Parts: sequence; structure tokens; C-alpha cells
Amino acid sequence: MPTNNKTELIPVTETKAAKAPKAPALPDAQTVTFVKHWTDRLFSFRVTRPASLRFRSGEFVMIGLMDDPDPNTGKQKPLLRAYSIASPSWDEELEFYSIKVQDGPLTSRLQHIQPGDEIILRPKPVGTLVHDALLPGHRVWFFATGTGIAPFASLLRDPQTYEDYDEVILTHTCREVGELQYGKELIENIRTDEMLAELMGEGFHEKLKYYPTTTREESPKMGRITDLLRSGEVYTDLGVEPIKPETDRAMICGNLAFNLELKEMLEEMGLEEGANSDPKQYVVEKAFLD
Ligand code: A2P
Repeated sequence: MPTNNKTELIPVTETKAAKAPKAPALPDAQTVTFVKHWTDRLFSFRVTRPASLRFRSGEFVMIGLMDDPDPNTGKQKPLLRAYSIASPSWDEELEFYSIKVQDGPLTSRLQHIQPGDEIILRPKPVGTLVHDALLPGHRVWFFATGTGIAPFASLLRDPQTYEDYDEVILTHTCREVGELQYGKELIENIRTDEMLAELMGEGFHEKLKYYPTTTREESPKMGRITDLLRSGEVYTDLGVEPIKPETDRAMICGNLAFNLELKEMLEEMGLEEGANSDPKQYVVEKAFLD
């Protein structure tokens, strides 16, 4: 689970700007290369990738900014949160997808970053939404709500996803239509990207099924994915058999209530939770919410 690692919150003295113009002013600094605001609640951004950083698609890292100086000591601490890496492991840069919380300690400030700014990125990727935590299967379901789509944006651009499974299904439930746009463009780009086709083989995207739903604004498919699974509507719409442990694998990433509800449903269907050290039929991780 992405939680704040208290050992990360060590006070550090602000590094004085060195003479070289591009010297990083932050510990573990990376430079922002691109920012896109999708709605008033959502934005994505790209940063430079540390040359030594290797990660498995679906993992997260701690990122953040320096906090305001302590009024008594004047010292500044890094303010870090867990963010899933949304870009695939072969990408030169790193991409993140974030909510904006107006009074959130980090995102109230992070939402104002611009290309050229620096953020802190601890190069220690971890996480459970990885292929290693699942046993081989016929079909994989990626279940996301809101910004929980981020780790799947990485996994859906990883050749291993299409090598390991005959069918790949992304479900994404959001409140409003505008919140689906990041996923919609992701899927369009995957289906038309020539480099991905070269890496993964022509026609790989025929394995991919995308199932976006909204709950609070009219769209072609409305409802919580949990309800649509219970009623069987998802299976009918996608033309697939109901989930069973022999054939289906699942990864869950969204808000807490959703994670818990879907986890219980999958358990009732006979799927068991896997881990890096003990691969099974499904894995779950909480999306960043602060
Ligand atoms: P709803 O609008 O019915 O609450 P949020 O933006 O609050 O994180 O929610 C993202 C999406 O997840 C919303 O569409 C929300 O639906 C849905 N959601 C919230 N809780 C659950 C749950 N327990 N099961 C399924 N979907 C959920």
C-alpha cells in the first residue's frame, strides 16, 4: 500500500544554489517537462527520469516538494506522497496523474508546477500492482476509479501485459465524463501508437477492452463497476464469461471503499489476494487521495 514513509521525512537543510546554473536545488530533484490540466480536479505531469531508476510497471515512488520553512527553526522538510508511475518502464521520462485538493498539503501546491520547475523524487519504486504478484491466467482485469487509473496507464503500455494474457480489460469509474478523458486518450494512443505496435506486435491492441463508466453525470455507460459486475451487465457488454479463479486475474486501484467492496466480491468469486512473494489471482492498492 502506498503510505507515507516516515523515514523519508528527515529535515534537510536547503541546498545553496551552486554556481553551475543547472545544479539541483532540491534533494533527489527532477525537472518537470510537461503539465496538463484535465479538469479542475485532475492534472498529469511528466518529469525527467533518474538515469539509474529501474521500476516494474505498476509500482509507485514517493514524490513531493519542500514544505514551507518551520517558523521557529527556518528549516525545511520534504513533503512527500506515494504516486504510481503512470508511464511504462521503457519511457525516457516519468509520468504522474494527480488529483488537486485545494487544502491538501501537497497537491494544493503541486498543482501549480510548470515545465522547468523541480520536484523531489525518491528513486525507490515499490508496490503490489505488478505482474510478479499474479499467477498466469487467460484474462486480466484492471479495475480503477479516479486517479487509480495511473498504475494501469503504465501496465497497459508494458509489452508483458499482452504477452501474459489473451484478454486485457480496463474498467474506469469516475463521477463525471471529463474525468474519463485521461483514460480515453491513453487507450486511443495505445491503439494507434506505432512504436507500441512494434514492441508488442501488430494487432496487440485487439486484446484490449476498455469499459469507462460514470456515476454522477450522463454518459453512454452509467453506474459503479461493482453494481455492473453484480448485475452481470459488464459481462454482457464485453462479451466475456463471468470472473472465475481458473481464468481471471485482477488488479484493483481506487478509493478505499471501492477497493474493499471489490476485494470482497472477488474473494466471493473464489479469487485470492497475491503478493510479490506469493503470487495469486488478484492484487489491490489504494490510489493517492490527499
Ligand atoms: P459514486 O459517485 O457513486 O460515489 P471519488 O471521486 O469519490 O474517489 O469516486 C470515484 C468513483 O468511484 C465515483 O464514480 C464513485 O461513485 C465510485 N465509487 C465510490 N465508492 C465506490 C464503491 N464502494 N464501489 C464502487 N465504486 C465506488
